[in-house]
Formats: sequence, structure tokens, C-alpha cells
Amino acid sequence: MPPRGADPRALTHGVHPWPARMHPHTAKTLLAVANPGAVADPFMGGGTVMVEARLASRRAFGSDLNPLAQHVAWARTRVVNAGWVARLNDAAGEVVLGARKIRSTRKVPKPLVAHHGDWFDPPALATVWAISASIGTELSPIGRMLRLALSSIAVKVSRQASDSIPKIDRDHQWVAARAVERRFTARVAEIGRSLLQFERVASDTPEPHFAQRDARIRPPEAVDLAAVITSPPYPGVYDYAAHHARRYWLWPGASRPERGEIGSRRDAKRKGGANLRFAYRDSMEALLTAWLEGLAPEGFCALVIGDGQTATGPVPVIPLLEQAATAAKANIVGVASQPRRQYGPGGNVKRGAQKFEHIVVIQPQ
Ligand SMILES: C[S@@+](CC[C@H](N)C(=O)[O-])C[C@H]1O[C@@H](n2cnc3c(N)ncnc32)[C@H](O)[C@@H]1O
Repeated sequence: MPPRGADPRALTHGVHPWPARMHPHTAKTLLAVANPGAVADPFMGGGTVMVEARLASRRAFGSDLNPLAQHVAWARTRVVNAGWVARLNDAAGEVVLGARKIRSTRKVPKPLVAHHGDWFDPPALATVWAISASIGTELSPIGRMLRLALSSIAVKVSRQASDSIPKIDRDHQWVAARAVERRFTARVAEIGRSLLQFERVASDTPEPHFAQRDARIRPPEAVDLAAVITSPPYPGVYDYAAHHARRYWLWPGASRPERGEIGSRRDAKRKGGANLRFAYRDSMEALLTAWLEGLAPEGFCALVIGDGQTATGPVPVIPLLEQAATAAKANIVGVASQPRRQYGPGGNVKRGAQKFEHIVVIQPQ
């Protein structure tokens, strides 16, 4: 359990939202018990393990199905100096001025309004679009970091209830153009400060490798790994692809990665609990088969994972992992579990079947 007061947003850990992020303390603790050598996180999300691996001077391979993950993990692991951060802040000011010009001379494209009009107040949509156009499509490191800042505020300036509730907020308050500009420049400044804190502790450490990839496929270069430290989706709990729906249009070439998403809540609703369990167990078997092969002797695979949920109740995840491990010719060699409270719509603690979060350590037989 992370010590009381351990800040989950320390250093660069808070530069961009990602639902169900791993606590940095958990990543750090698991890295500390692995033998020396490279590590991998095939469900890297916003890149918590990548940040901590860099801090521990380990080579690291991070991948995720979601195209945004690469950008977020890239940003969180940048080592830059004060001059670069000053240029970033200057560029943000220029981008805002450029965006005002764009707004005064061009109209928001109709397809964008058709697609996103319900989700943003009109001045907010126009300003986010104009800032994006002003950044330009070339992804230089500064351009990429500015886009990251815009992406990180996209839900806050929209009508979406929150990052993990992709529904219209019934108590939404109007967002004006200047509010978007202010949030954008403030975010860039905040990211700059986080990057400088990171630089103080991470200079001279190896850059991680990033890829957009299905976790069930291991890249051929990821071999001789001291550990795979990762947090797969919990069965039937989240729709990661949908959570970032306000953001894909801000990233050139990015599309919503629904196909291939493991354990989505959407599939649990559509296919029902039994199918979810089968599909989830098969996915975990494929994951373990691929990655256990890449381990060095005494290497391990640590999964930070929680019990799932379907309409008919909780889905205990350990039996599914036991079956998957056996099929992948592996053993579960350690489990640590903690109860998790469940909250109802009014914020009250729900009664009923208890759910747990676990750290599960698996090694080849
Ligand atoms: C619990 S989150 C990981 C959070 C991450 N540890 C962090 O700290 O930000 C699970 C991740 O699994 C990814 N995912 C879902 N299905 C996947 C698949 N088939 N292959 C790779 N990633 C997948 C989601 O995009 C999501 O980022």
C-alpha cells in the first residue's frame, strides 16, 4: 500500500489524466524487487511504470493499444532543461495569439461541429480547434508537448462529467474562449515545472521504447527482461477507448482503439458475464504466453489488477488468472490483496459482495 501522503501526481506523474493509473509507489516498489535489467509494461496507459523505470535507470519497453498512451508516456519521460521549458512557454503564448487570428478569419469545420458540438460549448470548441490548428500538424518536441497540454485539458473544458465518466455533466458551467486560453497556458506552465523537477532526478537515465501495440504481442527486441510490471484492464469495469473520446481529434492520425480492447465494460454489457470471463481468461493466457517467454531466468510478471464487474455482480479475477497461468505453463507464486470500497450514485458505500485489488506475481513453471 502506498505510504500515507505519497503524491500520485509527483514529478511528471500528473501531466495528463489517465483512468485507473497505477500508483507510482506501487511501480517503484515492484521495480525495486526485480533483478537488474530491462523491464516492460504492455498496458502502459499514461506510462507510470515507464517514468519509474527511467528513475531507476532501467531500460524499458512500454506499449498500449491506445494511440494516446505513447504521447502521454513520451511527455512524462522527457528530460529537458530550463531553456527548453522557457521556449515551450513562449511557444504557448504565440500559439494562443495565432489561435485568435485563426478564429477571426476561419470557421470551425462543419464535420467537427457535427461530431463534437454536443460535447463542448461553441466558444470552447472553436478555441480548442483554433489552438490545435495554431500548433500545426508537425509534431516537433515542442509542438507535441503543446498538443499534450491541450489534450490534457480537453475534458475539463468540455461538457463531459469527468475523465472517467464519459457522459454530459448535468451541472456543467459555460466555458468561454478566454477560459480555454487561460487553462491552456497555465497547463503548459505546470507541465514545464513538472518536467524540470523530473530532469533534476532523471538526467543521464535511458529513454524508454514506446509502441502502439496489442499487449498479447511481444516485440521481438523485448527479451531477457528482469520483469514485466503491468496493470491490465479489470474485467468489465472501464471503457478506456471511450474515456478519451474528447481527445482523439486533437492528435494527427489517432483513432479510437475499440477493437482489441481487453475486458471492456461495453463488451461485458453486450456479451454477458460468462462470455466476458472466457474472453478475459483467454486474453490473459495469450498475454502470459507472449511475455513469460521474454523473461530472463528468475524474471517475473507482476500484474496489478482488480476484481471485475458485470450486471450480475463482481467477477473475482484470481480464478481466471489461475486458469490462464496454468494454460501458459506458469505458476502464480505470490498474491497480495486489499479490499476496495464500492460507491453508489449518491457517493454512499455500497453493501454487497466485496471486491479486491491484487498484486499477482507469476513465473514460468
Ligand atoms: C489499468 S490501465 C493501465 C494504466 C497504467 N498502468 C497507468 O499507470 O497509466 C489499462 C490499459 O490497458 C489498455 N488496453 C486495453 N486493452 C489492451 C490491449 N489489448 N492491448 C494493449 N493495451 C490494452 C488500455 O488502453 C489502458 O491504458
